[in-house]
Amino acid sequence: MNYFLGIDSSTTGVKALVINAQGEVVGAATTEIPFSTPKPLWSEQDPADWWGGAVSSIRQVLQQTGLSGGDIAAIGLTGQMHGLTLLDENGQVLRPAILWNDQRTGAECDDIRARLGKARLIQITGNDALTGFTAPKILWVQKHEAEVYAKTKHILLPKDYVRYKLTGGFAVDKADGAGMLLFDLAERDWSPELLAALEIPAEWLPQTYEGPDVTGYISAEAAETTGLKAGTPVVGGGGDQAAQAVGVGVVQSGIIALTLGTSGVVFASTNEPFIEPEGRLHAFCHSVPGRWHLMGVMLSAAGSLRWYRDTLAPGLDFDSLLAPAKDVPPGSEGLLFLPYLTGERTPHPDPLARGAFVGLTVRHNQAHFSRAVLEGVAFGLRDSFELMKSAGLAQITQVRVSGGGAKSPLWRQILADTLNAELVTVNTTEGAAYGAALLAGVGVGAWPDVDTACQTSINITGSTSPQPDTAARYEQVYAEYRQLYPALKDISHNLSRV
Ligand code: XUL
Repeated sequence: MNYFLGIDSSTTGVKALVINAQGEVVGAATTEIPFSTPKPLWSEQDPADWWGGAVSSIRQVLQQTGLSGGDIAAIGLTGQMHGLTLLDENGQVLRPAILWNDQRTGAECDDIRARLGKARLIQITGNDALTGFTAPKILWVQKHEAEVYAKTKHILLPKDYVRYKLTGGFAVDKADGAGMLLFDLAERDWSPELLAALEIPAEWLPQTYEGPDVTGYISAEAAETTGLKAGTPVVGGGGDQAAQAVGVGVVQSGIIALTLGTSGVVFASTNEPFIEPEGRLHAFCHSVPGRWHLMGVMLSAAGSLRWYRDTLAPGLDFDSLLAPAKDVPPGSEGLLFLPYLTGERTPHPDPLARGAFVGLTVRHNQAHFSRAVLEGVAFGLRDSFELMKSAGLAQITQVRVSGGGAKSPLWRQILADTLNAELVTVNTTEGAAYGAALLAGVGVGAWPDVDTACQTSINITGSTSPQPDTAARYEQVYAEYRQLYPALKDISHNLSRV
């Protein structure tokens, strides 16, 4: 009984990962799942695929590790945030889930701001209304699919549908719950004022739990389907970003997680509910009890590099592409890259923002382009750091970098110099599923708290220090970079209509 299972229901697949009581990964399996875009701006998924993926990955990881269901002491859940899953009174899914990257709800976001007032909305939830969040999706169904809305009895997030199938119960952790735009951030629970303003019945929403709290137990039916043991506790877990932060040990104030995946996420753990006054950062509960976090999301981080390689240097591997960029001076001799290839969330929540190379001369060659891409993404991430400072985060003591982009030593150095902060790498690379498994262990007392679980299991493996001269140079170039979005905004919007 000394193993813990983390299950991550992401947009592309469901991963099941098992760790032992030392926090070591003993096995992992992922089942890919489809998603659909039935109309422009829409993004949907069938909740049955999350459950099917979970069953398949749980069975695979048990088989791979030779463990039986009875060896698993507790289970933690994580997954894509913000997705809307609607169930009827019999627990049947009413329509495909509307996902975090669905953009159909611009009008509903305006409606929410109008009903509450933007300032009050940010004061209660910590956030402005964004198309990605859950509340506007609920209003969209209210308005456009009245017959579905009339049958609705339960509202769940993606991983909590998996929880329902595992335990038969309705529950959500506070980190993911806060991403629905229905939470009172400071109270760490549903906001009666918001529910009343949006006319959403409170009884449709699940009870909320801290990340390591036990929310239910594996049912006899789920045990039969998955190979897990009936009665095994399932803890709250967390939305993917909070669980990812636990998974790299970003649980204390002043430590930042920087994830360089397709998107780039800057995540700061805080001991109080900090709010960026304009709502330009996400402010949610952490999956550590009694802590919160601030988060900036850049939509195309390593995604920018991949696009650049695939489009302008097809066939080249990333190492060969980036090697010559090391010899280009910081600032790429006046070439700037704006990374808004798929619009942007932080600091400019603008789906019509566009990317750009600016400052081109005949002197610039491929190495300059490569370096400019790495620098442009670093400047974009720095925007989130600046917003965190303006939200009151006084001290940043360490930045823990992970994700595919973090494998490049040149990119790590550029980031350390741009952010003027020490960047470290850690031994854990399994992401959110790993964090969820740690939360499961804490839930059944394998570690006394999340801090201890992280300290015991997560080690620093490398460090990159800022170079003062380069940091000073980047300070100047960043000032130019910041002028690009306002200068190009109208042109980008017009071009998006061409
Ligand atoms: C966070 C967010 C994404 C999704 C999908 O705000 O939208 O991280 O959770 O991974």
